[in-house]
Amino acid sequence: MTVKYDQYYQEGPDALGPPTKRLVDFLTQHLPKGASVLDVGCGQGRDAVWLARAGHPVTGIDPSAVGIGQLQDIAVSQSLPITAHVADLENFSLTETYDCVLFDRTLHMLDDVYRVAGFKRLLCKVNPAGCVVVLDEAPNLAGLRAVIPADWDQIWDGKSDFAYRRP
Ligand SMILES: C[S@@+](CC[C@H](N)C(=O)[O-])C[C@H]1O[C@@H](n2cnc3c(N)ncnc32)[C@H](O)[C@@H]1O
Repeated sequence: MTVKYDQYYQEGPDALGPPTKRLVDFLTQHLPKGASVLDVGCGQGRDAVWLARAGHPVTGIDPSAVGIGQLQDIAVSQSLPITAHVADLENFSLTETYDCVLFDRTLHMLDDVYRVAGFKRLLCKVNPAGCVVVLDEAPNLAGLRAVIPADWDQIWDGKSDFAYRRP
């Protein structure tokens, strides 16, 4: 299956540039040493590679076989703790749970109903004391916040990003 981002990623590595400083600063401050991360819509892995180099085991999922292939090549050649799957967040079956579930500019790709449903489905993959981190288009954030359980603490709040910690 050819998906929207395949061609974009084929044009070269680092299509989206390095991870943003704002996200790197947040993750550096809030992720405990060795915390596991699910990177949803990881693409070529700009965040996954940075996280793995920082010592975090990462599982990445993305429907782009091109992006996932590039990420798998980097993981193997640099011996990084990354597992990457060609998968759609709406129906991929995950047995594990994670200390952090990250959505970096992935959810705007989905229609409104599927965006919130897919996000809610993956919230249950966050470990106790773990966090969910979202970077997305500002108008999408309210609908996503609305399905976060009331007892989760907000630990990051920006115009186009947020994070909550599960109790
Ligand atoms: C703007 S890119 C962001 C990629 C990566 N998170 C980053 O920051 O470099 C959006 C990504 O979402 C992926 N995507 C689109 N629909 C998806 C879905 N249903 N499930 C998982 N990922 C999806 C695309 O293939 C693409 O790699």
